[in-house]
Amino acid sequence: MKKIYMAGVGGMLGEAFYKQFKGDYELRCSDIDVNEEWLSYLDFREEQSYRKEILAFNPDFLFHVGAHTDLEYCELHEKDAYETNTRSVEYAVSISNDLNIPLLYVSTAGIFDGKKDVYDETDQPNPLGHYARSKYLGEIYVQEHAKDFIICRAGWMMGAGMKKDKKFIKKIIKQIVDGEKVLHIVNDKLGTPTYTQDFASNVKLLIEKKQRGLFNMVCGGFTGRLEVAHELIQLLGLRDSVKVKEVTSEFFAEEYFAERPECERLLNNRLDDLGLNIMRDWRIALKEYLADYYPSIVK
Ligand SMILES: NC(=O)c1ccc[n+]([C@@H]2O[C@H](COP(=O)([O-])OP(=O)(O)OC[C@H]3O[C@@H](n4cnc5c(N)ncnc54)[C@H](OP(=O)(O)O)[C@@H]3O)[C@@H](O)[C@H]2O)c1
Repeated sequence: MKKIYMAGVGGMLGEAFYKQFKGDYELRCSDIDVNEEWLSYLDFREEQSYRKEILAFNPDFLFHVGAHTDLEYCELHEKDAYETNTRSVEYAVSISNDLNIPLLYVSTAGIFDGKKDVYDETDQPNPLGHYARSKYLGEIYVQEHAKDFIICRAGWMMGAGMKKDKKFIKKIIKQIVDGEKVLHIVNDKLGTPTYTQDFASNVKLLIEKKQRGLFNMVCGGFTGRLEVAHELIQLLGLRDSVKVKEVTSEFFAEEYFAERPECERLLNNRLDDLGLNIMRDWRIALKEYLADYYPSIVK
């Protein structure tokens, strides 16, 4: 079995990586939040510890997955944001180069400024805030310095259920579970949802097919927060009891003060060109996600 070291996999996406790869690869998985029995502790901001861990395991691939993903946290803790989301990527590049192994880096659709309707791999990023900038600097470093790499850009992530999902779907479900009957949803944010399980499977396919380089990797179909919320309510069978009140981002200006692009829709052009796009339509993925992770609330 080939060996993969996965760093920063205690979160939403890490859960899917573990699930999709564990049967076919020998894994060592770490995070600063050791919330599973298959995780060990590693703070990848500490270069020597990171290097020591990887050398001891001697993997065939290094997945650098973790990051600070809370945009507001990154605005308020700029130094930590860049140390976590950029500097640690430089360590990952150096370690993987020394071992002559490929590096996987997970980037984000949020690196674009949102002025275009849709972005493919040839479009020029123009990050708006510290989260996006720190992630884009990581991308640039990998592209310029890694000898062997895959960069995959995810969109609006959904996955891992109540315990680990930190994003939109969980926030909406939490409000519903708490008894909220009117949901305030923004009508001015467009994007492409990305189911963590699809993302991890597609990464696995790229590895099996020995592909390298930069890939957009989002679920199919263009949408926005408003449509996703309506679909979610419909899938939960709550159309009659839960109402959506459309608002603009101004409504959440205090809570979500980090600047976000109006549009972060991605096209998986490179995956399509290679015939390796197995990302499903976001509606199908959302339906499966709810059935698998929230069976008690799907009617
Ligand atoms: N979530 C999204 O919508 C989204 C979209 C596009 C791309 N991405 C990218 O996808 C990757 C995975 O994100 P995710 O959604 O799984 O986020 P997540 O649920 O927040 O998981 C990230 C994990 O990394 C850990 N981490 C933070 N600093 C670390 C450090 N210094 N050393 C080791 N682990 C550390 C976090 O621990 P703590 O929780 O204790 O901080 C957390 O367990 C990230 O690179 C992110 O930028 C995410």
